[in-house]
Amino acid sequence: MLLFFYITISFIVFLGLIAIIWRFSSLRSSIPCPTWLSWLVELDNPFFKNYSAHAIIQHLALASGMKVLDFGCGPGRLTIPVAKQIGPTGEVTAFDIQPGMLQRVRAKAMAENLGNIQIIQGGSGGGKPGHDQYDRVLLVTVLGEIPDRKAAMEEIFDGLKPRGILSVTEVIADPHFQSRARVIHTANSVGFVEKDFFGNRISFTINFEKP
Ligand SMILES: C[S@@+](CC[C@H](N)C(=O)[O-])C[C@H]1O[C@@H](n2cnc3c(N)ncnc32)[C@H](O)[C@@H]1O
Repeated sequence: MLLFFYITISFIVFLGLIAIIWRFSSLRSSIPCPTWLSWLVELDNPFFKNYSAHAIIQHLALASGMKVLDFGCGPGRLTIPVAKQIGPTGEVTAFDIQPGMLQRVRAKAMAENLGNIQIIQGGSGGGKPGHDQYDRVLLVTVLGEIPDRKAAMEEIFDGLKPRGILSVTEVIADPHFQSRARVIHTANSVGFVEKDFFGNRISFTINFEKP
């Protein structure tokens, strides 16, 4: 019992140290979450319930046939459940700068026999998301990893259909955490209108609408 306690505490301290080192390194340059740490992204954190895939997805008002862009999809924590929800007539684009992350999405999609996931490797500034294409765009703990956030938001704004929703989630445990004020400022500066806020100062989702 005591051994289990020590192992748990050591693990929490270990995670805390990684987060602190990473946060300070990120002040100098944006460092994307490495693929070998993707298990950490997928960890269901009991302290931040707003961050769970279930919590984020329930606020998206998804419908079958929708087109969704998971921008900075990582290992597909949201891509897979969204693909299931929008069904075979819909499509999720899993977009990430790291091939290793997309490899994980591909493996999961195959294991789940999902044929409605398009996988694209690239970074913001590369011309993806296109023009008036998507009903929903997810930006979950990605914004802080992007060097030119305003340019990325402009691309996403252009990629959404009118009345489409951009859903931004941030959690303080992420070394690249962006405050609510900063997220709203960046989104408003490109024309988004805040529609809904869920959560609190340290773990939240904001849904923005393209007018
Ligand atoms: C912390 S992970 C979050 C993954 C996923 N959104 C989730 O919540 O499970 C951030 C992801 O954003 C990706 N990323 C970082 N900068 C990016 C960029 N400029 N364009 C596309 N993806 C990027 C990283 O490769 C990483 O997979």
